[in-house]
Amino acid sequence: MTRVVLWGRVGNSVSDAQVIIAIDGPAGAGKSTIAKALAHAMKLQYLDTGAMFRAVTSTVLRLGIDPSHIEQVGALCESLSLEVLENQVIADGVDVTVDIRTPAVTKAASVIATNPLVRANLRSRQRAWTSMRGGGVVEGRDIGSVVFPDATLKVYLTATPRVRASRRVAEIGGDVDEIERLIRERDFLDSTRADSPLREAEGSVLIDTSGRLVVDIVEQIVSLVEGRLP
Ligand code: DC
Repeated sequence: MTRVVLWGRVGNSVSDAQVIIAIDGPAGAGKSTIAKALAHAMKLQYLDTGAMFRAVTSTVLRLGIDPSHIEQVGALCESLSLEVLENQVIADGVDVTVDIRTPAVTKAASVIATNPLVRANLRSRQRAWTSMRGGGVVEGRDIGSVVFPDATLKVYLTATPRVRASRRVAEIGGDVDEIERLIRERDFLDSTRADSPLREAEGSVLIDTSGRLVVDIVEQIVSLVEGRLP
């Protein structure tokens, strides 16, 4: 995997030392596809923070812990060894790459994501991840708003619920109306939780991906980033 430190100066603020591109937005907005293509185009590494929440969830379910138990889940997350690579996720030595995409994990992950202990722990890991790599493209829900408010560029991707549901159907099959309903349900949970709700970060660029080509969106973001580099 490419590892590029864009310049070596280590400053006190994120923007002095690292190029961080924060990509936030709801499920199905195109975050993963665009963030991966962008990382590739800019020779930066890519972090899927949703996979971190999913890996904690997968472990919680495997151990039979109640996902809504704040302290137990928090303690488990604290001690969990977690490796999130571009195409593989390992939690406490278990390869959870496939399990984290199951409907059971997707559903319980929304609950785990409301746990403030989990959020605080994963936030530290996300910051450490970029520090070790001199930046990166980081995808999630609160990356621009909470984790990296000083990111080089903050992008909020969106698309209509129907378009987002159709993309999911193309990926995993299913009934488009039912998937649209689940998407709206998850949006509600993600945007109304007390800790780090899903919202557009201040100063972020809003991009509606409905009906647009990935390559054009990536080009748009690359030129926005270039416009912000010294
Ligand atoms: O992006 P995803 O569907 O893989 O995310 C899984 C869950 O984690 C989803 O409920 C949203 C939540 N999440 C979050 O709260 N904050 C993040 N930075 C990333 C994901």
